[in-house]
Amino acid sequence: MRTETPPTIRLKDYKPSDYLIDHVSLDVALQPTATGVVSILKMRPNPASRTVNAPVRLDGEALELKSVAINGETIGDNRYTLTENQLIIDDVPEGQFELTIETQCNPDANTALSGLYRSNDVYCTQCEAEGFRRITYFLDRPDVLATYQVRVEADRDTVPVLLANGNPVETGELADGRHFAVWQDPWPKPSYLFALVAGDLACVTDHFTTVSGRKVELRIYVEQGKQDRCDWAMQSLKASMAWDETAFGREYDLDIFMIVAVSDFNMGAMENKGLNVFNDKYILARADTATDQDYVNIEAIIAHEYFHNWTGNRITCRDWFQLCLKEGLTVFRDQEFTSDMRSRAVKRIQDVRTLRSHQFPEDAGPLAHPVRPQSYIEINNFYTATVYEKGAEVVRMFKTLLGAEKFAKALNIYFDRHDGDAATVEDFVTCMEEASGRDLAQFFNWYNHAGTPSVNTRLDWDQAAATATLTVSQSLSATPGQSEKPDMHIPLATGLIGPDGADMELVLSDGQRIDSGILELRSAKQSWTFSGITDRPVLSINRGFSSPVNLTTGQRDEDLLFLMANDHDAFNRWEAGQTLSRSIIMSAMQAIKDGDEPDVIDDYADALASVLASQELEPAFKAQMLALPSEADIANMQGRNVNPDLIQSARDQVRKAVGGRLAEQLESLAGDLPAGDYSPSATAAGQRALAYAALSLLGAAEPAKTAAAALSRFEAARHMSDMMGPLNMLAGLDVAERDQALDMFHQRFTDDHLIVDKWFSLHAMRKGPDAAAHIRALMQHDDFSITRPNRVRALIGTFAGMNQTGFNSASGDGYDVLAEVVMALDERNPQVAARMVSAFRSYQLMDRVRQDKARTALGLIRDKQNLSADTLEMVSRMLD
Ligand code: TRP
Ligand code: ZN
Repeated sequence: MRTETPPTIRLKDYKPSDYLIDHVSLDVALQPTATGVVSILKMRPNPASRTVNAPVRLDGEALELKSVAINGETIGDNRYTLTENQLIIDDVPEGQFELTIETQCNPDANTALSGLYRSNDVYCTQCEAEGFRRITYFLDRPDVLATYQVRVEADRDTVPVLLANGNPVETGELADGRHFAVWQDPWPKPSYLFALVAGDLACVTDHFTTVSGRKVELRIYVEQGKQDRCDWAMQSLKASMAWDETAFGREYDLDIFMIVAVSDFNMGAMENKGLNVFNDKYILARADTATDQDYVNIEAIIAHEYFHNWTGNRITCRDWFQLCLKEGLTVFRDQEFTSDMRSRAVKRIQDVRTLRSHQFPEDAGPLAHPVRPQSYIEINNFYTATVYEKGAEVVRMFKTLLGAEKFAKALNIYFDRHDGDAATVEDFVTCMEEASGRDLAQFFNWYNHAGTPSVNTRLDWDQAAATATLTVSQSLSATPGQSEKPDMHIPLATGLIGPDGADMELVLSDGQRIDSGILELRSAKQSWTFSGITDRPVLSINRGFSSPVNLTTGQRDEDLLFLMANDHDAFNRWEAGQTLSRSIIMSAMQAIKDGDEPDVIDDYADALASVLASQELEPAFKAQMLALPSEADIANMQGRNVNPDLIQSARDQVRKAVGGRLAEQLESLAGDLPAGDYSPSATAAGQRALAYAALSLLGAAEPAKTAAAALSRFEAARHMSDMMGPLNMLAGLDVAERDQALDMFHQRFTDDHLIVDKWFSLHAMRKGPDAAAHIRALMQHDDFSITRPNRVRALIGTFAGMNQTGFNSASGDGYDVLAEVVMALDERNPQVAARMVSAFRSYQLMDRVRQDKARTALGLIRDKQNLSADTLEMVSRMLD
């Protein structure tokens, strides 16, 4: 066990830095095991700091210090103190001075993938959140903004490409087969946006002309031989640049924009100024290697990182507590981008699915934290669904409350006022208040309070008076560290639908009309009485998922069926189907427990049938209608004493019944694929999504027959999407065709690491009690490697995150596998290890037996020698 507990950082303790760094000149001499770094810092006292003559305390980690000089004069080691993670210089000149620091680091020994490391012989850096301190001693905090000049030097033959942020200014040859390049970034930036990449990389180029007519060179760097997999990424980049100009008035600000794809990366991608670094899985795509989902992800993540140039880079965060300021807003922006590029309704549904499957469980369990946390031990543990996805929901609610026009005005104020700043959430909200003239103090609770509010509604129609009274109440349960909860300010997009399917006018009894349809719930209980309601209305509330809440309307099945068929809000049409099918699954669970026959679900199946037959609805939307709530969703709804096996049986039964009833229609849809060559367009992908959703339901209804058909479809497929459709279906069945198809798939793509990852993920979805044993066996496979984050996530991440019954097996085997992997990973890569722990986040929902097993597994991790602060923090929160 550790002896000392790592310190807790608190928002309330924020203090401006005692010093500022105006300019950094870095000289990096790359060598695999001994890279030399000379850093010259132009420093001065921070006028905003209250401390005079403070010591200079620079952060540093895993560095070898060679020398320190002040204003060009080397100082002896009596003039500084070196601790495990700081270089402290007590006495520095008054006013401006120049600090020169010479250090050495070891990229090959850097398995944490934070700082400077090598992946596949390519040198690359990852500095967010606190990785720059692993390259040189620095004030490694986001409110210290400097301009950078970077000279990179390396062996010419093995490392021909030398990149850093900003514009290229010089290159040249050196003795001993070495060469160098100099890059200059004119935009002041925090150290977390620093990047350097060097290696034998291939380059694909293009250009983009900005609204003001500036020509920007675009470059995508990839592994040699992968140049033909960059077209989609490049197209997505250009689309993102154009969209940010038209949708947000934001233009790019350097002469060059570069993206590098690397194969070992702790997360998805990183927005370093002018030099984004990506996990190659989010860049490389060709029809025969990438699925529709890959294409969609690439488009969205390229957009996300590009949009950070304004929301994150030009306006950055004052401290890491403000992370949602850049991430929530940037996720909101990438969601809007995808909505404009593809189907808005389908995008909203998918985002809500993600929110429900990742963020709601987080918010309901031991890891719950506010969108803006108050404290952390390791900031890397707070790159969460709450900060990102719920953070985006909060931005979306501003838009709902203010209306599109005022919201746009607020953002313009934000961009104008804070360009070049390290800003706070308060700064952002102030812009919203100014643009709207509204007091948003109560709304601010969304930033400070964890947990998903519950909202209950009741609609009373008084036929004689021709009024309808809507009563809405809210409640929010205690979350870790927060026992008292305030009333939240909850915007609810609402409609009352008449028997003809049209929305009625919302006129309050005092005559006030609510044209926007937005009701604002601000107290524990509120009611609205609408007049002129001569027919029985059906309530459609929280349209478009206007607020991230758990809603209970208590509506009868007929009303849900009516909404499925009639609501003009596409999201709520889908939502009605989800609510109805969830309750059907829940009663099937009860029936199984009681030994009864499960309910008939004819009405629900009929409603689906008419959705499928509709001429107006798009295929991608129909595909969403066909997909039942996930097993995890149902567990979350159930809330306690969960038996995942029972959920799975009930859900499978419902799928089987629906699939059987719709078989004829599904058969025809399953065969209806776009003609011609592969296109990743929303239309073509939507048609495939529907075909494979249909195939999947058929698989539930008639496994033997469908499996045989799926195998031949897999063999005949001409691109990856048409392979993965049948494979996904087969992976969930216990049939010989599954194993045949998986073996063929592996043989065919052994040399393609991204596809081998897919193969591992498919295996991880195996149902049944032997899943954990299967995972253990696969960990012995030659292609498995604990040193590759993508591989670990593909096998272990998919298993723990997506395979409910396998991971939560009553034997505790699934938990043990995860604990073993976390412990094996922790010394190498604490960030990834700690992230894997979050798969335990819902263990308290489970029945006693499972809870105990999970707690035992977590305890094993906690008691391991030398556990990283990252993993310790996660495990402790989970066990508290
Ligand atoms: N800021 C990045 C994004 O949202 C994500 C990120 C944070 C990251 N820390 C990281 C990526 C560490 C890789 C490694 O796009
Ligand atoms: Zn981001």
